[in-house]
Amino acid sequence: MSQPLFQLSGIERHFALGETTVPALRGVSLSIERGESVAIWGPSGSGKSTLLNLLGLIDAPNAGDLRFDGEDVLALDDDALTDCRNRKIGFVFQGFNLMPVLTALENVMLPLQIRGVATSVARQRASDWLAHVGLERFAAHRPDKLSGGQRQRVAIARALVVEPMLVIADEPTANLDSENSRAVIDLLQKMNQETGVTCVFSTHDPRLLDHVPRHVRLADGLIESDAHPETAS
Ligand SMILES: Nc1ncnc2c1ncn2[C@@H]1O[C@H](COP(=O)(O)OP(=O)(O)O)[C@@H](O)[C@H]1O
Ligand SMILES: [Mg+2]
Repeated sequence: MSQPLFQLSGIERHFALGETTVPALRGVSLSIERGESVAIWGPSGSGKSTLLNLLGLIDAPNAGDLRFDGEDVLALDDDALTDCRNRKIGFVFQGFNLMPVLTALENVMLPLQIRGVATSVARQRASDWLAHVGLERFAAHRPDKLSGGQRQRVAIARALVVEPMLVIADEPTANLDSENSRAVIDLLQKMNQETGVTCVFSTHDPRLLDHVPRHVRLADGLIESDAHPETAS
């Protein structure tokens, strides 16, 4: 059997706040297999963003072990970490973070162009990904001409166009109504199934978890439950 994509054990993360420290994660152990789709859910302040920042190699814990793709990533220097992140991880943000002056197509092309992919190739690949997320007709639209749900679909295409092994989405539905929220989560599930990309997202809304195969619930910086409801007998 291949090793898990993530192996976390005894992860602690605390933040200094004036004279005190805020314990955001208080001993989290977790394994995520390649190709899994995992929802990290729990109330505001439970540690979801802190955990996703660690999984995204944006932040480092104060204690514990974190292995990603077979590597002890806590031992890597900043350059190696950045390189690992750029090659392996795509991010989707709650505020979409699209470039306002670029069209939907150009936004999806951007990560390829940053990597030096020729414009004609980048244009074709970005166009294929826009079609994949159901937005081919909106290729020439700027973000301000798109709905919130459409913007988040562009952001998902932009995260996936470089074919990462992992996509991380921290509350990707926080700025969306319930119908668009569901559509975005369904799209992430579809991408996970069709491409095999490992998908880890967070939400505080349990109504969005219906079609997600694994639910990790955080409360006060600890894993309160870790369930696979669809495969449970
Ligand atoms: N940079 C920071 N400085 C101080 N406290 C922080 C920082 N980031 C997070 N926290 C605290 O850590 C706890 C967990 O926060 P967070 O991971 O953002 O939770 P969630 O994403 O579930 O809302 C909260 O009490 C929060 O106030
Ligand atoms: Mg958060």
